[in-house]
Amino acid sequence: MNSRTKTLIAGATGQIGSSVGTHLREADGHWNPIGLARRPPPQPAFPMIAADLTDPADSLAQLGKLEDVTHIVYAARFNHFGGAPESVDTNVAMLANLMDAIEPIARNLAHVHLVHGTKFYGHTVRERPVPYREEDPCGNPGSFYLPQQQLIERRQRGKQWTWSISRPHAFCNYRDDEPRNMILVVAIYATLLKELGLPLIFPGTARSFDAMTQFSWLPTLSRAIAWMMRAPQCANQAYNVVNGDPMRWRDLWPTLAAYFGMEVGEPGGSDFASFVADKAPLWEAIIRRHGLRATDLLTIAQWPYGDYVLSVQWDVVSDMSKAARDGFAERVDSRGMWTAGFDYFREQRIIP
Ligand SMILES: NC(=O)c1ccc[n+]([C@@H]2O[C@H](COP(=O)([O-])OP(=O)(O)OC[C@H]3O[C@@H](n4cnc5c(N)ncnc54)[C@H](OP(=O)(O)O)[C@@H]3O)[C@@H](O)[C@H]2O)c1
Repeated sequence: MNSRTKTLIAGATGQIGSSVGTHLREADGHWNPIGLARRPPPQPAFPMIAADLTDPADSLAQLGKLEDVTHIVYAARFNHFGGAPESVDTNVAMLANLMDAIEPIARNLAHVHLVHGTKFYGHTVRERPVPYREEDPCGNPGSFYLPQQQLIERRQRGKQWTWSISRPHAFCNYRDDEPRNMILVVAIYATLLKELGLPLIFPGTARSFDAMTQFSWLPTLSRAIAWMMRAPQCANQAYNVVNGDPMRWRDLWPTLAAYFGMEVGEPGGSDFASFVADKAPLWEAIIRRHGLRATDLLTIAQWPYGDYVLSVQWDVVSDMSKAARDGFAERVDSRGMWTAGFDYFREQRIIP
């Protein structure tokens, strides 16, 4: 890596792009991230440009001067909500438009990384043998992951640059400006139940309570991406990136209940979104009594996202041995990640 490295982060204001960009800016001074999104904030954490990747002309116009880009982290994703289906055509066209704009001018392009996920294996489509391995066939024809992967494989043939793909699962991060945040969803849900004198009821089915699940700590994903972009053995490879300690919700739930001093509740309550629908007055009363920051219960956390995460009725476990074999051995204690996240939201005065 040298001082001429410049890393374009597509989707730089998104959940992943913003964290990866911040990590690369802080990592070792060499990545020089430059972000891309339609609506960069006025004071971004790292330099950003505005471009609409659905528009080939705008992509060419805005990206056409980035001759010095050496690395691309592609974490853009067209508008979506909760677990609703996402447009394959639009998401593939966005990647194509970016490559059409950058590839002809970036003569020192070295690596293109795509952030994908376990949806590749079809974890929301049907039960399949676990652990998921990178060489498993795609199990999700409705996802844009395989078409994007095929596009990048095709474009790379005969070129000097290489590609890699990360396949994380449900992201966890300590941020109070990201409503798609399972730790925040559970923290507020628990606070409401506790106020009502109820146990920590599991808002999913008995089957999902017993299913194995897993998480991806975003700082670990950022380090994994930096590793893939540097390590020669990662060229043209996909890697699972999860914490590495899969567990049943049934086994994690007591840790979460204990944090809030609550009894463990069985499954069978309503889902998150239905539960919070009429709880705004209760939440406002909690805020007033504890002097918390003023937040809107229905928007501070994306409740349908929480229901989407719990909707899977079977085991979802990714095999981390390929990354370990090739040199990335970082693992995360997911229980500690959850409780430290609750600490963070307390410090931020979002929960009491
Ligand atoms: N979130 C998860 O739990 C999760 C889990 C596993 C895998 N993944 C995968 O990780 C990747 C990134 O997801 P994410 O959740 O971080 O995405 P996200 O938060 O929805 O962010 C999307 C980003 O893309 C930008 N964008 C959208 N449309 C654009 C356009 N037309 N032109 C330019 N930029 C555009 C957005 O900025 P503007 O709106 O300003 O344009 C934003 O910066 C996806 O492949 C996703 O499937 C996510």
